[in-house]
Parts: sequence; C-alpha cells; structure tokens
Amino acid sequence: MKAFVLDGGFGLENLKLRELATPAPGPGQVRLRMLAASLNYRDVLMARGLYNPRQRLPLVVASDGVGTVDAVGEGVTQWRLGDRVCPNFVQGWVSGEPTRDKLRTSLGGPLDGTLAEYRVFDASSVVAVPAALTDEAAATLPCAGLTAWSALVTQGRLTAADTVLVLGTGGVSIFTLQIAKLIGARVLVTSSSDEKLARARALGADETINYRTVPEWGKWAKELTAGRGVDHVMEVGGAGTLEQSLRAVRIGGTISIVGVLAGSAPALNLLPVLMQNIRLQGVIVGHREGFEEFMRAIEHGSLTPVVDRTFPFEDTVAAFEHLASGSHFGKVAIRIAN
Ligand SMILES: NC(=O)c1ccc[n+]([C@@H]2O[C@H](COP(=O)([O-])OP(=O)(O)OC[C@H]3O[C@@H](n4cnc5c(N)ncnc54)[C@H](OP(=O)(O)O)[C@@H]3O)[C@@H](O)[C@H]2O)c1
Repeated sequence: MKAFVLDGGFGLENLKLRELATPAPGPGQVRLRMLAASLNYRDVLMARGLYNPRQRLPLVVASDGVGTVDAVGEGVTQWRLGDRVCPNFVQGWVSGEPTRDKLRTSLGGPLDGTLAEYRVFDASSVVAVPAALTDEAAATLPCAGLTAWSALVTQGRLTAADTVLVLGTGGVSIFTLQIAKLIGARVLVTSSSDEKLARARALGADETINYRTVPEWGKWAKELTAGRGVDHVMEVGGAGTLEQSLRAVRIGGTISIVGVLAGSAPALNLLPVLMQNIRLQGVIVGHREGFEEFMRAIEHGSLTPVVDRTFPFEDTVAAFEHLASGSHFGKVAIRIAN
C-alpha cells in the first residue's frame, strides 16, 4: 500500500510517497481502507520538526481521516465491513481526564497518521460518522472539529445566552463558529481578510472585524457586548494575541488556549487574569466519548464542515503548502481513495 511518510529528516522536501506493507488487524482491531484525510496546522509543524523535534521518523503524516472498515480482527463485534468511521485523534483516550500515557497515542505523531491507503486501529478507538457527510467533510472532524467541540461544549458548557469570540478563519476557528451557532450563541469573528469575513458572515457570524486594520479588536469586542466582555474566546493565536483576548473577555469568562499561530509576546500582563477571575483553559483535542457526542450534534443540527479545497492523494505536498500559506478558509482535505 501507499502512504505519505516523513522520512530521512524533517521538512516538506522529506515528505515522500512510499510503498509500505499493508497491515493486518490483530485481535480487537479493525483495518480501515482510508477514503480521505484533512490537514491541521499541527501537521505542518510536525513535518517541519517544530511540533516535536524528537519525533521518531519515519512517520506516516496527518491526524485526521475517515475510512471504511475492510477487515476485522478476532473478537470485534461492534463494527461490520463497510462501516464508515473516523479514528479518534488521541487513540487511547476514551473518557475522563487526559494522562501522559493517553496523549502518547495521538495520530500523526507520535503514532503514525492517516495519510495511508490502509490503517489499523483498535476497534474501540474509532467512531461512526453521520451518513449525510461527504468523505472529505467527515475527514475534518477528529482533530479540528473535536477541539472546537471540547472547548465550547465539553469544557466550556456554552449556552445560547453566550457570546463567543473566534480568532481567524482556519479549521478550528470555523468549527467554533459553526458549533456556537448550532447552540444559538452570538459569534464575533476576526480575520486578516475582508473576503474571509464575508464568508464567515454567510455562515452566521454576527459581527466581524479585520484584525490587521483594527489591531485593538479586544476593545471592539467589549464595546459590542455593552462593556461586559465576551463569555468565551477561542484563542488560536497564543501569546501573540492573548493581550487582546484578555481585553475582550468578561469578568469570569473563559479563554480556551488552543493554538500558537501568532508567535510569542515580549511581555504579557497577567494581572487581569487574577483580578477578573478569568479562566485560561488549555485544550488538547478530546476523548472518544466527546467525539461521539459531537457526531450526534452534527446529525441533529445538520452541521456541514467547510472544506476549502480537496487535493488528490499524490498532491499531498501541495496540500501541505496550501495550508501553510494561510490562504484557506476552513479545512484542507485530501482524497485518498474512491
Ligand atoms: N490544542 C489542540 O488540541 C489543537 C487542535 C487543533 C489545532 N490546534 C492549534 O490551533 C491553531 C489553529 O489550528 P488550525 O489547524 O485551525 O490552523 P489553520 O487552519 O492553519 O488556521 C490558520 C488561520 O489562523 C488565523 N490566524 C493566524 N494568525 C492569526 C492571528 N495572529 N490572529 C488571528 N488569527 C490568526 C488565520 O486566519 P485568517 O486568514 O482569517 O486571518 C489563518 O488563516 C494552531 O496553532 C494549531 O496547532 C490545537
């Protein structure tokens, strides 16, 4: 079988299409014929050696994907041949709190990822996907989708009375917008592009602003909430945007620390965190039970993931470059098999 493997060193130039042995499922495992995968910013960092410079190579890349069950190991009763499922991103995390051991079972590093024609997973670590979704849309759910769900719902307990501030229009951010609207919350979105902001409004964003032309977007968010501040910020920028997020959030509100896209900050004043009882909540994707709950919400609410562009399997490196360019809106998908 064919797989995209990071081999011989880090860097996109070392991302190669390789011929590997087709795996067979052991007891309690299923084999998936992979249909589609999608990319996360994490996959770009991983390929460049910036996510974990000590990651062992070779590595089959990418964290998100969907496939059909095409072989089952001994003792597997919950899945039938032809079932369409997504592997959970953290394979060993079924419920409860994460642990170091559970987090060592993440796909696309440290474990092999989804950009292969066949992959074997524990039968208890895959989740059925809603029939209405295309393969490309289903392939976006395990990492970006579940991260947004965990932050807003599992940890954030979001309600329709809340206001959510979404930074940017990448994969996690657009899922945050869609999930927040599904729940009925008010959503504010920032972007570097007016054209992307128009697309965000078409998806239901209530208020939008260009963070390049208005760097003081924290003040803007506070004004839009009559000085109270937003209830929840999806912080994908990290240290480089946290100062504005702290300005935007209400007393006692939550900032979900999810990403590091905006680099570092020279000095950060953390006084507002304690003086205003602000909750800074780290989020690492999510557990299988949360993923199953998210799947049910998608079915009930007809959420359709936004796929910016789909690349053929052999053009995987171009797909990585497209994601790294930041020109996308939502998710970048890769078609593996028909
Ligand atoms: N903690 C977790 O479990 C988890 C899971 C998934 C992802 N992540 C992390 O979350 C972040 C987002 O991941 P992703 O896969 O959604 O990335 P992505 O799809 O590549 O998102 C890129 C977008 O982020 C926006 N952005 C970049 N710099 C920004 C800034 N300074 N302020 C506001 N927005 C900015 C841009 O939006 P515009 O073009 O609209 O400006 C850009 O297009 C990454 O750091 C990733 O590593 C974490």
